[in-house]
Amino acid sequence: MQIADIQPERLPRHIAIILDGNGRWAKKNGKLRQQGHKAGADNIEVIGDAMIEYGIPFLTVYAFSTENWKRSTEEVSYLMGLMKRYLMKNKQDALRKGIRIRVIGDRSKLSDDLQVLIREMERDTKDMTRLNLTFAINYGGRDEIVRAVRRAAQDVKQGILAPEQLDEAAFSAYLDTCELPDPDLMIRTSAEQRISNFLLWQLAYSEFYFSDRLWPDFTPEDLLAAIQDYASRERRFGGRVKEAKA
Ligand code: FPP
Repeated sequence: MQIADIQPERLPRHIAIILDGNGRWAKKNGKLRQQGHKAGADNIEVIGDAMIEYGIPFLTVYAFSTENWKRSTEEVSYLMGLMKRYLMKNKQDALRKGIRIRVIGDRSKLSDDLQVLIREMERDTKDMTRLNLTFAINYGGRDEIVRAVRRAAQDVKQGILAPEQLDEAAFSAYLDTCELPDPDLMIRTSAEQRISNFLLWQLAYSEFYFSDRLWPDFTPEDLLAAIQDYASRERRFGGRVKEAKA
């Protein structure tokens, strides 16, 4: 099976992934949890390259949730350091490969230096178009919706927005994902079958795919299997097959 065997119109345009299983991978391989996260971060690059090879332009990964602050101080600071190192190390690579990097989530709670690195990465890669790689960092779907409601309410208060104007499309523009299409396919690794507060609004009509692989073990071939499975599904968007949008 190759990507070319799938009809192009059946390919997903946006894949969102819950990267789960780094800790279990470390345990299984007799390594420290931190090494599991490092292997997980390295695998984002491998899967990003596969997305480019397969011609799928949007990848969004759940790197740190609003609930992940509950982990030990050591683990949280290791993950924050890993993100900083990633942003410092990968800019040239992103520019060479044509990757635009964005971050969604409440970045105001991140350290100042991480915020600066994020801003610079977003600014410097903004003209790249081959792959739109979005990291969800300090991200929670409910939190994103609440922040969006707050901004919309502020605009109503200031007379910029009339309450009747607020429909689904207008509301989407207040979300962190305002520049992204909704995911067509959501993948979660490591055999868990939960949404864990990821993209609650945006996943309304997405197809879900659950893989038994632990995230650091998830390969381009596994990604292809998920895409192939997606391509075989009939998406109805709440309508009947012949009325389907795609
Ligand atoms: C879930 O594994 C994974 C996370 C909470 C973090 C995901 C983060 C990365 C892959 C690295 C982020 C780095 C960059 C560069 C964005 P888990 O720890 O919950 O695994 P377990 O359930 O097996 O313990």
